[in-house]
Amino acid sequence: MRVVIQENYEKMCKWAADYIAAKIKAHNEGPEAGRPFILGLPTGSSPIGVYQELVRMNQAGELSFSNVVTFNMDEYLGLPKTHDQSYWYFMHDNFFDHLVDMKPENINILNGMTDDPEGECKAYEEKIASYGGIDLFMGGIGVDGHIAFNEPYTSLASRTGVRNLTTDTRIVNGRFFDNDPEKVPAQALSVGVGTVTDSKEVLVLINGHNKARALAATVEGGVSQKWTCSALQLHNGAIIACDEAACGELTVDTYKYFLDIEKKERL
Ligand code: GLP
Repeated sequence: MRVVIQENYEKMCKWAADYIAAKIKAHNEGPEAGRPFILGLPTGSSPIGVYQELVRMNQAGELSFSNVVTFNMDEYLGLPKTHDQSYWYFMHDNFFDHLVDMKPENINILNGMTDDPEGECKAYEEKIASYGGIDLFMGGIGVDGHIAFNEPYTSLASRTGVRNLTTDTRIVNGRFFDNDPEKVPAQALSVGVGTVTDSKEVLVLINGHNKARALAATVEGGVSQKWTCSALQLHNGAIIACDEAACGELTVDTYKYFLDIEKKERL
Protein backbone atom coordinates (compact mmCIF):
# COMPACT_ATOMS: atom_id res chain seq x y z
CA MET A 1 0.00 0.00 0.00
CA ARG A 2 1.18 3.51 -0.81
CA VAL A 3 0.30 6.32 1.56
CA VAL A 4 0.90 9.72 -0.01
CA ILE A 5 0.88 12.40 2.68
CA GLN A 6 0.26 15.93 1.47
CA GLU A 7 0.49 19.11 3.53
CA ASN A 8 -3.15 20.10 3.18
CA TYR A 9 -6.45 19.33 1.45
CA GLU A 10 -5.68 21.40 -1.66
CA LYS A 11 -2.37 19.62 -2.25
CA MET A 12 -3.96 16.22 -1.65
CA CYS A 13 -6.62 16.98 -4.27
CA LYS A 14 -4.06 18.26 -6.77
CA TRP A 15 -1.96 15.14 -6.29
CA ALA A 16 -4.97 12.85 -6.76
CA ALA A 17 -6.22 14.72 -9.85
CA ASP A 18 -2.75 14.61 -11.41
CA TYR A 19 -2.57 10.89 -10.72
CA ILE A 20 -5.96 10.18 -12.30
CA ALA A 21 -5.17 12.39 -15.31
CA ALA A 22 -1.84 10.62 -15.84
CA LYS A 23 -3.56 7.23 -15.75
CA ILE A 24 -6.23 8.25 -18.28
CA LYS A 25 -3.62 9.74 -20.62
CA ALA A 26 -1.33 6.71 -20.35
CA HIS A 27 -4.27 4.45 -21.15
CA ASN A 28 -5.28 6.51 -24.19
CA GLU A 29 -1.73 6.50 -25.51
CA GLY A 30 -1.13 2.82 -24.79
CA PRO A 31 -2.00 -0.49 -26.44
CA GLU A 32 -5.44 -0.59 -24.80
CA ALA A 33 -6.63 2.77 -26.18
CA GLY A 34 -9.25 0.94 -28.23
CA ARG A 35 -11.29 0.27 -25.11
CA PRO A 36 -12.54 2.91 -22.67
CA PHE A 37 -10.83 3.73 -19.40
CA ILE A 38 -13.14 2.59 -16.58
CA LEU A 39 -13.15 5.01 -13.65
CA GLY A 40 -14.93 4.43 -10.34
CA LEU A 41 -16.02 7.59 -8.52
CA PRO A 42 -17.18 8.63 -5.04
CA THR A 43 -19.35 11.39 -3.63
CA GLY A 44 -18.88 13.28 -0.36
CA SER A 45 -16.93 16.40 0.48
CA SER A 46 -13.50 14.73 0.17
CA PRO A 47 -13.43 14.44 -3.65
CA ILE A 48 -14.81 17.93 -4.43
CA GLY A 49 -11.35 19.49 -4.86
CA VAL A 50 -10.30 16.60 -7.10
CA TYR A 51 -13.36 17.12 -9.28
CA GLN A 52 -12.64 20.84 -9.52
CA GLU A 53 -9.09 20.19 -10.70
CA LEU A 54 -10.17 17.51 -13.21
CA VAL A 55 -12.79 19.94 -14.58
CA ARG A 56 -10.14 22.66 -14.88
CA MET A 57 -7.85 20.32 -16.83
CA ASN A 58 -10.72 19.21 -19.06
CA GLN A 59 -11.89 22.74 -19.83
CA ALA A 60 -8.29 23.81 -20.51
CA GLY A 61 -8.00 21.05 -23.09
CA GLU A 62 -5.41 19.15 -21.04
CA LEU A 63 -7.50 16.06 -20.34
CA SER A 64 -10.26 14.41 -22.32
CA PHE A 65 -13.07 12.30 -20.86
CA SER A 66 -14.36 11.17 -24.25
CA ASN A 67 -12.90 7.69 -23.74
CA VAL A 68 -13.84 7.38 -20.06
CA VAL A 69 -16.72 5.32 -18.64
CA THR A 70 -17.61 6.02 -14.99
CA PHE A 71 -19.27 3.95 -12.29
CA ASN A 72 -20.30 5.66 -9.07
CA MET A 73 -19.95 3.99 -5.72
CA ASP A 74 -23.37 4.41 -4.24
CA GLU A 75 -26.77 6.11 -4.13
CA TYR A 76 -29.38 6.70 -1.45
CA LEU A 77 -32.39 4.44 -1.79
CA GLY A 78 -35.57 6.45 -2.30
CA LEU A 79 -34.05 9.73 -3.46
CA PRO A 80 -34.90 10.81 -7.01
CA LYS A 81 -32.22 12.23 -9.31
CA THR A 82 -33.70 15.68 -8.85
CA HIS A 83 -33.22 15.66 -5.05
CA ASP A 84 -30.27 17.93 -4.29
CA GLN A 85 -28.81 15.34 -1.91
CA SER A 86 -29.03 12.43 -4.32
CA TYR A 87 -25.63 11.28 -5.50
CA TRP A 88 -26.86 11.56 -9.11
CA TYR A 89 -27.48 15.27 -8.48
CA PHE A 90 -24.17 15.68 -6.64
CA MET A 91 -22.15 14.11 -9.46
CA HIS A 92 -23.76 16.21 -12.16
CA ASP A 93 -23.63 19.40 -10.14
CA ASN A 94 -20.00 18.98 -9.06
CA PHE A 95 -18.50 17.19 -12.01
CA PHE A 96 -20.27 15.82 -15.09
CA ASP A 97 -22.14 19.01 -16.05
CA HIS A 98 -18.83 20.88 -16.24
CA LEU A 99 -16.94 18.45 -18.47
CA VAL A 100 -16.86 19.43 -22.13
CA ASP A 101 -16.63 15.93 -23.59
CA MET A 102 -18.11 13.45 -21.11
CA LYS A 103 -20.67 11.28 -22.89
CA PRO A 104 -23.87 10.97 -20.81
CA GLU A 105 -24.25 7.35 -21.92
CA ASN A 106 -20.88 6.60 -20.29
CA ILE A 107 -22.07 7.69 -16.84
CA ASN A 108 -23.27 4.89 -14.55
CA ILE A 109 -24.96 5.63 -11.24
CA LEU A 110 -27.15 3.22 -9.30
CA ASN A 111 -30.81 4.17 -9.55
CA GLY A 112 -32.10 5.00 -6.06
CA MET A 113 -35.71 4.95 -7.28
CA THR A 114 -35.62 1.45 -8.70
CA ASP A 115 -38.55 -0.90 -8.02
CA ASP A 116 -36.11 -3.79 -8.00
CA PRO A 117 -33.06 -2.93 -5.86
CA GLU A 118 -31.58 -6.44 -6.03
CA GLY A 119 -31.95 -6.54 -9.82
CA GLU A 120 -30.48 -3.04 -10.13
CA CYS A 121 -27.40 -4.09 -8.13
CA LYS A 122 -26.95 -7.34 -10.04
CA ALA A 123 -27.16 -5.49 -13.37
CA TYR A 124 -24.58 -2.96 -12.10
CA GLU A 125 -22.09 -5.71 -11.30
CA GLU A 126 -22.74 -7.29 -14.69
CA LYS A 127 -22.18 -4.00 -16.48
CA ILE A 128 -18.87 -3.46 -14.68
CA ALA A 129 -17.84 -6.99 -15.63
CA SER A 130 -18.87 -6.41 -19.26
CA TYR A 131 -16.16 -3.74 -19.48
CA GLY A 132 -13.59 -6.09 -18.00
CA GLY A 133 -13.68 -4.45 -14.56
CA ILE A 134 -12.68 -1.05 -13.22
CA ASP A 135 -9.25 0.36 -14.03
CA LEU A 136 -9.10 2.87 -11.20
CA PHE A 137 -11.59 3.31 -8.38
CA MET A 138 -11.30 6.60 -6.52
CA GLY A 139 -12.96 6.47 -3.11
CA GLY A 140 -13.46 8.31 0.12
CA ILE A 141 -14.23 6.87 3.54
CA GLY A 142 -16.57 7.64 6.40
CA VAL A 143 -15.36 8.44 9.90
CA ASP A 144 -16.11 4.82 10.82
CA GLY A 145 -13.96 3.65 7.92
CA HIS A 146 -16.82 2.69 5.62
CA ILE A 147 -15.90 2.57 1.96
CA ALA A 148 -18.80 3.40 -0.36
CA PHE A 149 -21.71 2.54 1.98
CA ASN A 150 -20.11 -0.61 3.34
CA GLU A 151 -20.67 0.00 7.01
CA PRO A 152 -18.70 -1.77 9.77
CA TYR A 153 -19.17 -5.55 9.59
CA THR A 154 -20.12 -5.62 5.93
CA SER A 155 -18.31 -8.58 4.44
CA LEU A 156 -14.99 -7.73 2.87
CA ALA A 157 -16.09 -10.00 -0.01
CA SER A 158 -19.38 -8.12 -0.53
CA ARG A 159 -20.71 -7.19 -3.96
CA THR A 160 -23.08 -4.41 -5.05
CA GLY A 161 -26.25 -4.54 -2.96
CA VAL A 162 -28.67 -2.84 -0.59
CA ARG A 163 -27.14 -1.47 2.62
CA ASN A 164 -28.75 -0.36 5.87
CA LEU A 165 -27.06 2.80 7.11
CA THR A 166 -25.92 2.96 10.71
CA THR A 167 -27.21 5.63 13.06
CA ASP A 168 -23.64 6.97 13.20
CA THR A 169 -23.57 7.51 9.44
CA ARG A 170 -27.00 9.09 9.40
CA ILE A 171 -25.88 11.49 12.14
CA VAL A 172 -22.68 12.38 10.23
CA ASN A 173 -24.51 12.80 6.91
CA GLY A 174 -27.32 14.71 8.61
CA ARG A 175 -25.27 17.86 7.93
CA PHE A 176 -26.55 17.69 4.35
CA PHE A 177 -30.17 17.13 5.46
CA ASP A 178 -30.94 20.20 7.62
CA ASN A 179 -28.86 18.63 10.41
CA ASP A 180 -31.62 16.08 10.89
CA PRO A 181 -30.40 12.45 10.84
CA GLU A 182 -34.01 11.31 10.46
CA LYS A 183 -34.12 12.94 7.03
CA VAL A 184 -31.13 10.88 5.84
CA PRO A 185 -32.42 7.84 3.96
CA ALA A 186 -32.08 4.69 6.04
CA GLN A 187 -30.87 2.59 3.13
CA ALA A 188 -28.60 2.91 0.12
CA LEU A 189 -27.44 0.96 -2.88
CA SER A 190 -23.69 0.48 -2.82
CA VAL A 191 -20.92 -1.30 -4.60
CA GLY A 192 -19.41 -3.97 -2.35
CA VAL A 193 -16.00 -3.99 -0.72
CA GLY A 194 -15.15 -6.79 -3.14
CA THR A 195 -16.35 -4.69 -6.09
CA VAL A 196 -13.87 -1.98 -5.08
CA THR A 197 -10.95 -4.28 -4.35
CA ASP A 198 -11.46 -6.12 -7.65
CA SER A 199 -10.45 -2.90 -9.42
CA LYS A 200 -6.98 -2.80 -10.89
CA GLU A 201 -6.14 0.23 -8.78
CA VAL A 202 -7.84 1.91 -5.84
CA LEU A 203 -7.13 5.50 -4.78
CA VAL A 204 -8.74 6.56 -1.52
CA LEU A 205 -8.84 10.14 -0.24
CA ILE A 206 -8.62 10.57 3.53
CA ASN A 207 -8.48 14.10 4.89
CA GLY A 208 -9.22 16.04 8.03
CA HIS A 209 -8.86 15.38 11.78
CA ASN A 210 -12.17 13.53 11.91
CA LYS A 211 -10.72 10.80 9.66
CA ALA A 212 -7.57 10.23 11.73
CA ARG A 213 -8.81 7.07 13.44
CA ALA A 214 -10.05 5.69 10.13
CA LEU A 215 -6.70 6.35 8.45
CA ALA A 216 -4.84 4.58 11.26
CA ALA A 217 -7.25 1.62 11.03
CA THR A 218 -6.81 1.49 7.25
CA VAL A 219 -3.03 1.53 7.36
CA GLU A 220 -1.89 0.15 10.71
CA GLY A 221 -4.78 -1.93 12.02
CA GLY A 222 -5.43 -5.54 11.17
CA VAL A 223 -7.61 -6.46 8.22
CA SER A 224 -11.07 -6.48 9.77
CA GLN A 225 -14.65 -6.11 8.68
CA LYS A 226 -15.00 -3.66 11.60
CA TRP A 227 -13.13 -1.15 9.43
CA THR A 228 -14.12 -2.08 5.89
CA CYS A 229 -11.47 0.26 4.46
CA SER A 230 -8.83 -2.10 5.92
CA ALA A 231 -9.58 -4.51 3.04
CA LEU A 232 -7.30 -2.26 0.98
CA GLN A 233 -4.34 -3.90 2.72
CA LEU A 234 -5.01 -6.99 0.63
CA HIS A 235 -5.07 -5.04 -2.63
CA ASN A 236 -1.93 -4.93 -4.72
CA GLY A 237 -2.52 -1.46 -6.14
CA ALA A 238 -4.00 0.57 -3.29
CA ILE A 239 -3.01 4.17 -2.72
CA ILE A 240 -4.15 6.38 0.13
CA ALA A 241 -3.86 10.10 -0.55
CA CYS A 242 -4.20 12.00 2.72
CA ASP A 243 -3.47 15.32 4.35
CA GLU A 244 -1.44 16.06 7.47
CA ALA A 245 -4.58 16.58 9.52
CA ALA A 246 -5.65 12.98 8.99
CA CYS A 247 -2.29 11.61 10.18
CA GLY A 248 -2.82 12.40 13.87
CA GLU A 249 -3.46 8.82 14.97
CA LEU A 250 -0.62 7.22 12.98
CA THR A 251 2.43 6.20 14.96
CA VAL A 252 5.41 8.50 14.41
CA ASP A 253 7.30 5.63 12.76
CA THR A 254 4.50 4.92 10.28
CA TYR A 255 4.22 8.61 9.41
CA LYS A 256 7.98 8.93 8.90
CA TYR A 257 8.14 5.69 6.92
CA PHE A 258 5.66 6.87 4.28
CA LEU A 259 7.19 10.35 4.04
CA ASP A 260 10.55 8.67 3.50
CA ILE A 261 9.59 6.19 0.79
CA GLU A 262 7.35 8.67 -1.03
CA LYS A 263 10.11 11.30 -1.20
CA LYS A 264 10.68 10.63 -4.87
CA GLU A 265 7.55 11.32 -6.88
CA ARG A 266 6.32 8.12 -8.45
CA LEU A 267 3.50 8.94 -10.80
C1 GLP B 1 -20.78 8.94 2.44
C2 GLP B 1 -20.50 8.16 1.18
C3 GLP B 1 -19.10 7.65 1.14
C4 GLP B 1 -18.14 8.77 1.45
C5 GLP B 1 -18.42 9.26 2.84
C6 GLP B 1 -17.44 10.31 3.32
O1 GLP B 1 -21.10 8.13 3.50
N1 GLP B 1 -21.38 7.08 0.98
O2 GLP B 1 -18.83 7.10 -0.14
O3 GLP B 1 -16.82 8.31 1.33
O4 GLP B 1 -19.72 9.80 2.84
O5 GLP B 1 -17.87 11.57 2.98
P1 GLP B 1 -17.00 12.86 3.18
O6 GLP B 1 -15.98 12.85 2.09
O7 GLP B 1 -17.96 13.99 3.03
O8 GLP B 1 -16.38 12.80 4.53
